[in-house]
Amino acid sequence: MNFELTEEHLAVRDAARNFAQNVLKSGVIERDRDQKFATDEIKQLGELGFMGMMVDPKYGGGGMDTLSYAIAIEEISKVDASVSVCLSVNNSLVCYGLEKFGTEEQKQKYLVPLAKGEKIGAFCLSEPEAGSDATSQRTTAIDMGDYYLLNGTKNWITNGSSASTYLVIAQTNTELGHKGINVLIVDRGMEGFIVGAKEDKMGIRGSDTHTLIFNDVKVPKENRIGEDGFGFKFAMKTLAGGRIGIAAQALGIASGAFELATAYSKERAAFGKPISHHQAIAFKLADMGTEIEAARLLVYKSAVDKDLDRNYDQSGAMAKLYASKVAMEQTVEAVQIHGGYGYVKEYHVERLMRDAKITQIYEGTSEVQKIVISRGILG
Ligand code: CAA
Repeated sequence: MNFELTEEHLAVRDAARNFAQNVLKSGVIERDRDQKFATDEIKQLGELGFMGMMVDPKYGGGGMDTLSYAIAIEEISKVDASVSVCLSVNNSLVCYGLEKFGTEEQKQKYLVPLAKGEKIGAFCLSEPEAGSDATSQRTTAIDMGDYYLLNGTKNWITNGSSASTYLVIAQTNTELGHKGINVLIVDRGMEGFIVGAKEDKMGIRGSDTHTLIFNDVKVPKENRIGEDGFGFKFAMKTLAGGRIGIAAQALGIASGAFELATAYSKERAAFGKPISHHQAIAFKLADMGTEIEAARLLVYKSAVDKDLDRNYDQSGAMAKLYASKVAMEQTVEAVQIHGGYGYVKEYHVERLMRDAKITQIYEGTSEVQKIVISRGILG
């Protein structure tokens, strides 16, 4: 087994790291405080090719592998998880879904600007009463002949107000259960589509999470992705890859906090020596480093599974389950190592601790990951 990253992976890591440390870091505390979306920075990331990393170059993407994408998300999440979730949704849910299952016309019209970073995409599955139980869609897409009439409300939508292209999951035929669900491409400007309230969140406060309302929106038939009734499988297949992105985000949050805690422990002195020379802190760092490296192996393994066309439902769910747990636990430890300084905004670790929690909730809670993993084990 070869654990070496290629020259290409290292170049992606350096580019993402440089951007995170040199561009994102300076404004991250203010963006978190003010709930400000990093519009200019995300535009720059698009120009650098980070919005459609895995998309075929013929559709404006970077043609990279999933491992490169995971490495980039990891580096950006070390500094700003609000930016990385925007990238993650655009890359692994919206661009992937369009490229894998869209028609040539849909790709030309919607995928190309998304992959080039000229536009941003959103993935709309969650509803007030359909979170983990994703088959219980109340949003309806009634077949009216040459268009669908879309009505309903979506909740917790990442990129809610900054997106131009929305992939909306809706129920067309309730009698068919999950086989009656469709996925429609909705344009920002369609009549009857309203971007509702913004959520005031504990973490990832720089990402714009909104309620979306659809009132008699007429969506042309040609905007349906896949065959009639393919919507639920579309969601499951895209989310399986999306979970690798969120696992990488959790890994980055944990690693970012670990790097800060390690540096701080070498600078801060107590009882006549740097606190890193006290075993109480050194052993904490040893545990943190071990847990994070184990998470990294799971994340990279799931990315490689996808790149090698192996099944990644289980390995992606394992990576997300484990990396998000590590992120939550190790950011708490990073705050502890910082003592009182860890509790104030200036030292970044309190934000990383707040950001970590969402990785155990979105793109499937930890309990959902356990459903996927246990089904894989039990067949
Ligand atoms: N690939 C292909 N097909 C799949 C699949 C996959 N990975 N997973 C399930 N399916 C298929 C099944 O084979 C089944 O099809 P058949 O009936 O033809 O056999 C169908 O889908 C239904 O599957 P299940 O019976 O397994 O469905 P379920 O109701 O038991 O649910 C679940 C399983 C795993 C809990 C699923 O509902 C789920 O993933 N829920 C969580 C949803 C989620 O992740 N939401 C996140 C919202 S998006 C987000 O957070 C983005 C963001 O903003 C950051």
